[in-house]
Amino acid sequence: MPATVIVGAQWGDEGKGKIVDLLARDSDLVCRYQGGPNAGHTIVVGDETYRIRQIPTGILRGKASAIGAGCVVDPAVLIAEIDELEARGIRTDGLVFVSGNAHLIMPWHVALDGARERRLGRLQIGTTRRGIGPAYADKATRIGIRVQDLVDPKILREKIELAAAEKNVWLERVYELGHFDADEVLTTLLEHAERIRPWIADTSLLVDRTLRDGRRVLFEGGQGTLLDLDHGTYPFVTSSSPIAAGAAVSFGIGPNRIDEVLGVAKAYVTRVGEGPFPSEIEGDAQARVRELGHEFGTVTGRERRCGWLDLVALRFAVRVNGITSLALTKLDVLSAFAEIPVCVRYLLPDGSETEEFPAHQSDFHHCRPVFETLRGWSEELGTNGLPAAAHDFVSFVERVLEAEVRLVGTGAARDRVLALR
Ligand code: IMP
Ligand code: MG
Repeated sequence: MPATVIVGAQWGDEGKGKIVDLLARDSDLVCRYQGGPNAGHTIVVGDETYRIRQIPTGILRGKASAIGAGCVVDPAVLIAEIDELEARGIRTDGLVFVSGNAHLIMPWHVALDGARERRLGRLQIGTTRRGIGPAYADKATRIGIRVQDLVDPKILREKIELAAAEKNVWLERVYELGHFDADEVLTTLLEHAERIRPWIADTSLLVDRTLRDGRRVLFEGGQGTLLDLDHGTYPFVTSSSPIAAGAAVSFGIGPNRIDEVLGVAKAYVTRVGEGPFPSEIEGDAQARVRELGHEFGTVTGRERRCGWLDLVALRFAVRVNGITSLALTKLDVLSAFAEIPVCVRYLLPDGSETEEFPAHQSDFHHCRPVFETLRGWSEELGTNGLPAAAHDFVSFVERVLEAEVRLVGTGAARDRVLALR
């Protein structure tokens, strides 16, 4: 398919990196459409493990890689990432494209993100503290600094002085922290500008031309559906639009240009940070899944909370993204369990049961999972075919969701993906 969106169908960390890496082989351009260095994609290539945060994963396949207008960019992180890839022998020259309309994460955004979380205490969101929320907030209030401002030192100075004056009041008076010196911030940013300048591009035109030429474009989302600012489990969400439609918004193309939406879901669920989580595992199996699945954050190292597969939430993801097929990752982790609970309905506070994701937050916060128990398998999952019980598990998911599972992840290595169709 010429234009495909790969979207996280849960709360992020579904293993999108690996699926993007696989599909990037047959793509000409790989596009990251939202978020910033809060994302962390892990790709294992032979003995090497790459942890990618800002740049699209396609870079590992030597593909043109674009960062869209809907992203927020931490210049120091982006430059460090490119330098690290180059140092490890991955060529990036001529392959990096950054929208001039993307917003910059400034040092005060990072400081404010941390300060706000500390102040919230028990009520914290559990952000990655990378400055994401404050950067998007400034974008929405129209005092953000954009990538294209980097190429005009006069405008950049004005914007930095304006922003610093306001942020410093917040930092000093509200959070009792130190302030930022506008001149120092400008000096550092001008150094970064020299590196970033050649990467700045009209990414809308780039995608349009690539598609017109009949070439293939892959859009990769960060985070996941339930972390979407509008449709996720607000306020325990990120500040951008991970859902598939976000790709069209970020790259400035019509939604009708997107041909396929591939949803990526783990065979179980994880969530980092706070917020309701109906299918969260109780008892020893929680730690077992975490260990087997190496469920610790790529960016923050935090323990991820683990739950059984939630088909109510996944049905919602199929709907809001227009998912045309699914990749079910990390199925091998479930090999350790003789019986596998799968959440098929929610029991609501009023005693009724539903297969649809609750539209009201209170219903979601207080619902209880209704599980169906599926038979496990003890065979190790290889690369040719699935044992009968694992196959039944996949078929069950397809039947309940009325969506087809195209790919199944059976291990961490790059080649441990089974194509079912
Ligand atoms: P923020 O994106 O740093 O503002 O964090 C907001 C929420 O999104 C927190 O619950 C984070 O744990 C979560 N989050 C952000 N990025 C990721 C990710 O890549 N994987 C999983 N959760 C994430
Ligand atoms: Mg991640």
